[in-house]
Amino acid sequence: MKASIKIDELIEVVRKGGVVQTGVDVYNKRGILLIEKDVPVRSVNILLTLKQNGLIEVPIDYKKAGGMWDRNGLSVQTRRKPGDEVRTNREEALSEAKKKVEEVMELKEEARGLHQRAKENIKEVIKDIKKTGGKFDQNIIESIVDEIFIFLSRKGNAFSYLAKEIFTYDDFLYNHSVNVCTLGTAILLRFSEEFGELINRQLNQLFMHDTKLSVSENMTSYILYYPEELKEISVGMFLHDIGKVLISDQVLNKKGKITDDEFQLLKTHSYELGSRLLDKNGIHNAFISNVVRYHHSALYQAETRAYPADRLPIEMPPYVKICKLADLYDSMTSKRAYKDAENPVTVVTDIFRNYAGKEDIMLQLVLHAFVSIVGIYPAGSVVYLQNGQLAYIVDSVGPICVPITDRSGNAVSREQYPVNISAAGEMDSGLKIDRRRTPLAPKETFKLLPGYLQAV
Ligand SMILES: [Fe+2]
Ligand SMILES: [Fe+2]
Repeated sequence: MKASIKIDELIEVVRKGGVVQTGVDVYNKRGILLIEKDVPVRSVNILLTLKQNGLIEVPIDYKKAGGMWDRNGLSVQTRRKPGDEVRTNREEALSEAKKKVEEVMELKEEARGLHQRAKENIKEVIKDIKKTGGKFDQNIIESIVDEIFIFLSRKGNAFSYLAKEIFTYDDFLYNHSVNVCTLGTAILLRFSEEFGELINRQLNQLFMHDTKLSVSENMTSYILYYPEELKEISVGMFLHDIGKVLISDQVLNKKGKITDDEFQLLKTHSYELGSRLLDKNGIHNAFISNVVRYHHSALYQAETRAYPADRLPIEMPPYVKICKLADLYDSMTSKRAYKDAENPVTVVTDIFRNYAGKEDIMLQLVLHAFVSIVGIYPAGSVVYLQNGQLAYIVDSVGPICVPITDRSGNAVSREQYPVNISAAGEMDSGLKIDRRRTPLAPKETFKLLPGYLQAV
C-alpha cells in the first residue's frame, strides 16, 4: 500500500542514522528518476537536494518493501496529525493492533485477578488436606470453577488471557492446578461445541430425505455434555494432581534424575492417592474420578510412560484425553525446580506430532480443539520474524506480537508498536513469522524482554 511521506520526515529519519526505501521509482515533473525503488537512501544530502529542487513529499510503497527504519533496523512509523491525510492501510492495521493489545492488556488484568483467586483456593484446599489428613472444602473449588467458566465463556479466545507466566515457577501445585483447569476447560468447551455441531450436521444430512420424519429443517439437538457435567469435569481438572499432596517435596521437586522407586511412588498420585482422597471426601462423581485417576493414561496403544494400564486408550472418554493434553502442555511450558520452561511454540508442535494420525478419531478431534485453543503461536511465546527481529506474542489470534529486538538481535528498551502479523505481514513481508528458525526457549529470551512485557 502506498503512502506519501513528507520529505522533512524522511530527512529526520536518515539524519539519525536510519534508512529509507521507497519501493517505487520516484520521478520529478520532467520525468527524471530521482530515487530508485529498491535503492536504500542513507544520505541526508540526497534528500536535502531533492527538497531544494521542490520535492515536498515522497511516495512509499509498503507492499513492495518500501518503508523507513531507524539505525537499529526497527520500522519507523510516519507521524501524521489527525485529519492531515487519509491514513494508509498499514497505519490502519497498526492502530487496530494497538487497540487490540490494549483490550488484551485489560483482559489480562482481569484474568490475573481470577488466576490469583483460583491459586488462593487451591492453596486453601491443600492446607486443609494436610491439616485434616485428607478432608477439604469442595465449595471453595466449585465457586472458583464457576468463575472460570464465566470468564472462558465470555470471549472466543479467553484462554490466552489466562495464560500463565512462563518464566517463574512455584514449588507446589498452585499454578499447575489452575493452569490445567483453565486450559483444559477452554479445550473442553471448544471440543464439546464442535463435537455437538458435527453430530447434528451428520444427523441432518443422514435424514434430510427421510419422508417419514416431518422435519424439513435442522431439528437435531444433540449435546455432548450438560453444563453441570462440564463443570464437574472442570472440578476434576482442578483436582487432577491432588494426590501429590501426599507425596514428599523431596520427591516432587527433586533436581536430579528420579530413581525407579521414586517414579513408581510418583505414579500413584493419580490412580491411588488421588482416588483415595476423593473417596475420603465422599466424591464419587465419575467425571471427577476419571480425570483424577486416568489423566496420565495412554492415548494410543504404544505410548510409553503412561499409567495406569487397566483401560485401553480407546476406552478413555474425551475429557480425560483433554486433561492429559492440558497437563502435558502446562508441564512442558513451565519452569520447574528440575527443568526450564520450553517454548510454547515448540511444545504445541511436539504434542501435535506425537498424537496426530493415531488410530483414535476422537483423539484427533480433541487434538484439533487443543490446537485451536492454544494457537499455533501461543501467547507468551517468542518467535523470529523474517526481518531478523525477535517478537513476543501477546495474542495467539492474529497473532499479535511486539518486537523485542532490532534486526541484529539487540534488545530494544523503548516500547514498540504491536504488530498484527496477519494484517501487517501482507504489506511488509519482513513482518511475517520466520517458520524456518526454531523459536527460542523462554529462558533465552527473558533477558531481552522490556520491563513492560515481563509483567504481561
Ligand atoms: Fe498428574
Ligand atoms: Fe498434572
